[in-house]
Amino acid sequence: MNIVTIFDDLQLARNKLVNPLGLVPTMGALHAGHLSLIRRAREECQSTAVSIFVNPTQFAPLEDLKAYPRDVDRDLGLLEKEQVDLVWIPDAEELYPAHFQTWVEVDQLTKVLEGGFRPGHFRGVTTIVSKLFNAFQPQKAYFGQKDAQQTIVIQRMVKDLNYALEIVVCRTIREPDGLAISSRNAHLDPEQRKAASVLFQALSAAERAFNQGRHDAEQLRQIMREILEMETQAEVQYVSVANPTTLEELDGNADRALLSTAVLFGKTRLIDNVMVKNDKR
Ligand code: PAF
Repeated sequence: MNIVTIFDDLQLARNKLVNPLGLVPTMGALHAGHLSLIRRAREECQSTAVSIFVNPTQFAPLEDLKAYPRDVDRDLGLLEKEQVDLVWIPDAEELYPAHFQTWVEVDQLTKVLEGGFRPGHFRGVTTIVSKLFNAFQPQKAYFGQKDAQQTIVIQRMVKDLNYALEIVVCRTIREPDGLAISSRNAHLDPEQRKAASVLFQALSAAERAFNQGRHDAEQLRQIMREILEMETQAEVQYVSVANPTTLEELDGNADRALLSTAVLFGKTRLIDNVMVKNDKR
């Protein structure tokens, strides 16, 4: 496994890799979700690369950039075991040099849901992801369905900017009680951790209702809200039944929808989603 920090070294190492290259962008603190992306990349590509960079521009000023878990030695041990070919751990100064002022911004899709609660977040994500695509020139890049809006925004960016690569979205990896695996789960105290499975319970109930023929978007939102609001530890930020392409909230009967929610447990903010589709049409 080749580990580089400097951009010039990355380019030299990248040029030695056989195509197709699969890239898994990460902010480190690797968990089972990341490992599932890496394994999928290894199955589908000749070479696999991972970036580890806690991207400051996707955190709002009051968000938890400082508290974001970091353990590069542990991450590298895991990546070695997964037989990753190339790891880039860049310095912030190299990615954001003095006087940096060039941003990549996706317009409408980033104004709703996560974008409504985390202004500027997606501008940071699309800027760093496009820099990673430029640096690695991968043929495929792997992202988790857990961050559904992120995958939709990145797919839009790839289309709009004519990136010649495929975005592969991999299923959400869950704990036995359904909680989606995320680096943020480590911030939950034991009671909050127990309560946090309510996101999955709410989404699953709405998914079941949809599969049983209850397609009215407001009813589905209501099902999720009722379950979430019964959990006293949970402070609901949004429940959404949205068009999976435009992310606009749906009214009336939905044929396909992204069901999603964001919930605070104390200071820890969790998100989750499921995609539903009416197979009978
Ligand atoms: O999903 C993440 O971990 C980050 O948003 C990403 C894609 C690595 C960009 O910093």
